[in-house]
Amino acid sequence: MEMGQQCRRWALVLVTLFWAFSLLCCSSVDGFSKVRGVNLGGWLVVEGWIKPSLFDGIPNGDMLDGTQIQLMSAMLQKYVSAENGGGSNVTVDRDTASSWETFKLWRVSESEFQFRCFKGQFLTSSDRGGFISATVDSPGINETFSIERNNTRVHIKLSTGSYVQATWGNQLAFNYQGEPGWDDNAATFEMTIVANNLHGEYQLTNGYGHDRAKEVLMKHWNTFVTANDFDFLSQSSINTVRIPVGWWIAHDPDPPAPFTGGSLAALDRAFVWAQAYDLKCIIDLHAAPGSQNGMEHSASRDGSIDWPSDDYISQTLDVIDFLSSRYANYPSLLGIELLNEPSAAAVPLDVLVSYYARGYQIVRNYSPTVYVIFCQRIGNADPMELYQANIGVSNTVVDLHYYNLFDPYFDDLNATENIQFIYKSRMPQVQALNSANGPLVFVGEWTNEWNVTNASRFQYQMFGSVQLDVYGEASFGWSYWTLKNDERHWDFEWNIKKKYLLLGNSSTKSTNFFLLALACGLYLATIVGMT
Ligand SMILES: *[C@@H]1O[C@H](CO)[C@@H](O)[C@H](O)[C@H]1NC(C)=O
Ligand SMILES: *[C@@H]1O[C@H](CO)[C@@H](O)[C@H](O)[C@H]1NC(C)=O
Ligand SMILES: *[C@@H]1O[C@H](CO)[C@@H](O)[C@H](O)[C@H]1NC(C)=O
Ligand SMILES: *[C@@H]1O[C@H](CO)[C@@H](O)[C@H](O)[C@H]1NC(C)=O
Ligand SMILES: *[C@@H]1O[C@H](CO)[C@@H](O)[C@H](O)[C@H]1NC(C)=O
Ligand SMILES: *[C@@H]1O[C@H](CO)[C@@H](O)[C@H](O)[C@H]1NC(C)=O
Ligand SMILES: *[C@@H]1O[C@H](CO)[C@@H](O)[C@H](O)[C@H]1NC(C)=O
Repeated sequence: MEMGQQCRRWALVLVTLFWAFSLLCCSSVDGFSKVRGVNLGGWLVVEGWIKPSLFDGIPNGDMLDGTQIQLMSAMLQKYVSAENGGGSNVTVDRDTASSWETFKLWRVSESEFQFRCFKGQFLTSSDRGGFISATVDSPGINETFSIERNNTRVHIKLSTGSYVQATWGNQLAFNYQGEPGWDDNAATFEMTIVANNLHGEYQLTNGYGHDRAKEVLMKHWNTFVTANDFDFLSQSSINTVRIPVGWWIAHDPDPPAPFTGGSLAALDRAFVWAQAYDLKCIIDLHAAPGSQNGMEHSASRDGSIDWPSDDYISQTLDVIDFLSSRYANYPSLLGIELLNEPSAAAVPLDVLVSYYARGYQIVRNYSPTVYVIFCQRIGNADPMELYQANIGVSNTVVDLHYYNLFDPYFDDLNATENIQFIYKSRMPQVQALNSANGPLVFVGEWTNEWNVTNASRFQYQMFGSVQLDVYGEASFGWSYWTLKNDERHWDFEWNIKKKYLLLGNSSTKSTNFFLLALACGLYLATIVGMT
């Protein structure tokens, strides 16, 4: 080993030790020690992967809003295609299926659907001399079709009673009379479901329909998170809950269809429990009208991202006004997060910054001190962009979400490499933002799961402890995603009870010291292990 290399290595060790000991001098957020939070994910904004059983009772449950399908004529053995992806004719002439041949379902009832093309238009029976085209922007009766299923085969029926059929001229006509059989006739199509990965609040409420959705959600709200969970959190040295809410909460008790009223009362209860168990609350607007990221957790109907429009933005500011006016004077309210995970690809920075600036003012109209939290854009964006934007003068926070998942970079990392990544990449970012002389830094989402197969409990403990150390350095603190989850490694309570996550104790320095020693040891081991 070269001399210089060894020196550098020892320098690194010393820097690390210095950094580690600096952790012992906890800074505080307005007299309140830093946030050690847990997210109440999947409670007031449904996420199917967190609790799949919520969807069990939906008829035709594999044909929810946003499900992507392809149709092949049984007679022609060709796929239905919206020419140019939409806006023009429909043909039945493709041997293979790609984006123009893929349609997103909008569900009208358990058997009635609308078909949305790649470019956004809907299949319609309105014109073109008896042929289906892809020319209507907002769907109505002529764009609504009944689907009759027989295994993978379907018949597609108009409200007039006639069926859609392929023609030998490779078009899609809507003049098949009588009842087609299930053989390879002109009105029979093979339906392939190519994606049905959206299981959010929209899919659930629209899938069940209003009355049934209300029953299912009422039961979920009353049982998924209870006072006992708050008790458990406070005994586990957690001091804050971050509570995702959907925009429709501002329209309780009668939000626009398909959303269902009742989540507001549940949020009220959370504030009561928070006071009883001495926890703080962060209200996080997780789902904005139009959807800010196209994902199920923003209640997107079909994956589209329509939030960046004047209309939706102004509706969103009304939601912030509602939440601020209702909760500003609750002593448990710590912060309001204006928008969760806007997409970098679809939400321009200037649009977002202007929204954040207006949202900040609205919160300040009701409270001079409540923290106003700006979430970083997800995708290809550097959170530093929000520091350079100069939004708001006091008690502002930028929220970063750190997962060692969802990016091919992590797919092949082993346990040690994952842990090194936390130190080598996350730590410098947290430190740089801490010292950027702007908003406080909040790691508002992270989890004790990674893409390492069959990792041991000890490896999970290491991963968790290292994350706690590094994210604990964030000037505002952190919150774990998420309280409960069918995927047990994401489940906070499971992690604590099974000792996969050793949380330690914020109030006792000896526990910090233990974690610290653990982390230092681990880091030294990884450095020494490097060749
Ligand atoms: C669309 O279909 C109509 C009627 O079937 C036909 O007249 C027209 O040429 C077609 N347009 C294109 C762009 O293929
Ligand atoms: C529906 O389509 C029929 C022709 O198939 C047309 O006469 C009628 O005007 C359309 N209705 C609407 C609302 O577009
Ligand atoms: C489904 O199709 C098969 C023939 O492929 C037919 O025997 C059966 O009766 C059909 N089922 C229904 C419910 O129509
Ligand atoms: C885990 O890695 C596999 C490839 O090994 C990848 O297909 C998968 O998407 C990754 N999972 C997540 C959640 O990132
Ligand atoms: C992890 O990968 C590194 C190479 O980056 C390798 O040196 C190390 O032995 C691996 N560790 C384990 C536990 O597989
Ligand atoms: C993980 O464990 C399961 C069951 O113990 C085993 O079948 C599987 O081969 C293991 N996978 C790897 C990648 O070691
Ligand atoms: C944390 O410390 C408090 C007292 O300071 C103690 O009551 C509690 O049991 C400790 N919790 C853990 C998880 O060690």
